[in-house]
Amino acid sequence: MLDKINKLKAEIAALTAKDGAEVEALRIKYLSKKGEVSALFNDFRSVPADQKKAMGQALNELKNAATEKINSLKEAVENADTETTGIDLTRTAAPLPLGTRHPLSLVREEIIDIFRRLGFSIAEGPEIEDDWHVFSSLNFAADHPARDMQDTFFIQRNPDVLLRTHTSSVQTRVMEKAEPPIRIICPGRVYRNEAISARAHCFFHQVEALYVDKNVSYADLRQTLLYFSREMFGQDTEIRLRPSYFPFTEPSAEMDISCKICGGKGCNFCKHTGWVEILGCGMVDPNVLEACGIDSKKYSGFALGMGIERITNLKYQVKDLRMFSENDKRFLEEFESAR
Ligand code: DAH
Repeated sequence: MLDKINKLKAEIAALTAKDGAEVEALRIKYLSKKGEVSALFNDFRSVPADQKKAMGQALNELKNAATEKINSLKEAVENADTETTGIDLTRTAAPLPLGTRHPLSLVREEIIDIFRRLGFSIAEGPEIEDDWHVFSSLNFAADHPARDMQDTFFIQRNPDVLLRTHTSSVQTRVMEKAEPPIRIICPGRVYRNEAISARAHCFFHQVEALYVDKNVSYADLRQTLLYFSREMFGQDTEIRLRPSYFPFTEPSAEMDISCKICGGKGCNFCKHTGWVEILGCGMVDPNVLEACGIDSKKYSGFALGMGIERITNLKYQVKDLRMFSENDKRFLEEFESAR
């Protein structure tokens, strides 16, 4: 029996394995219940009493040596996996570079969110439009300069097909179909035939808001503007409405907010006035309501329109409009934390 033990000991000491499966096969061969080492333990019962002590010791040594050998083979193949593939599966994953939200998207979502809290829902319209929705329905006179080729991109003339110059066209599209009360905001891209510079671009983005119902008043407009401005720029923001003119509103106004950069004291950004212009607004002209099939004696409404680039500039002080469309990663990555 001692011979058998020694033979097995030598055999086990010389074992090798290439992978985990081979190690497992060896473990079963030698150490499982029906394995060769266990078989020797069964033979142990017939060993004469005077040899039991020495034989028992030898058997235990064999079992320990076999267990150690199998464990060291197991460890070796596991380490070999790392060495051959070069991948350390235990390492923490390196952070993946994630994209960032575009600043204009961030600001658009913020504007939408504020108006949503006031009960406005989103409406959209096409970027390729006709004269009726962009101009005629909105009370533009036949000789209004915005209808000129110098301001508008025409795709076709007579009948006119053009790129919308403002999101006010969505007002018409909604009013033509829906019955008041109407409470919508319309975010979207608009196009104008402008030379591209730091301060102007041939396309930009607007958000339009429209509220039509019975008894909608200028006070409702003003309160909505105040709420929007304070949510957007902080609760200490003041607003100021200056009389203005738009064909589709009467009366019309432009809204300024107190300058966020100098807090109203006057700086380069606000041209030392303490105020910056943000948007155009007014009470929907009865002609527009009627053109869209809404009874202007029964209903009234307010509308407002703002440029998303302008709001973004104010929030993040982007000096050059062209940055928004150049896709320079260095610029876009600055908005990582706003993701
Ligand atoms: N459509 C105007 C523009 O593009 C902005 C505007 C002004 C929209 C007044 C309105 C408004 O709804 O009431 O300059």
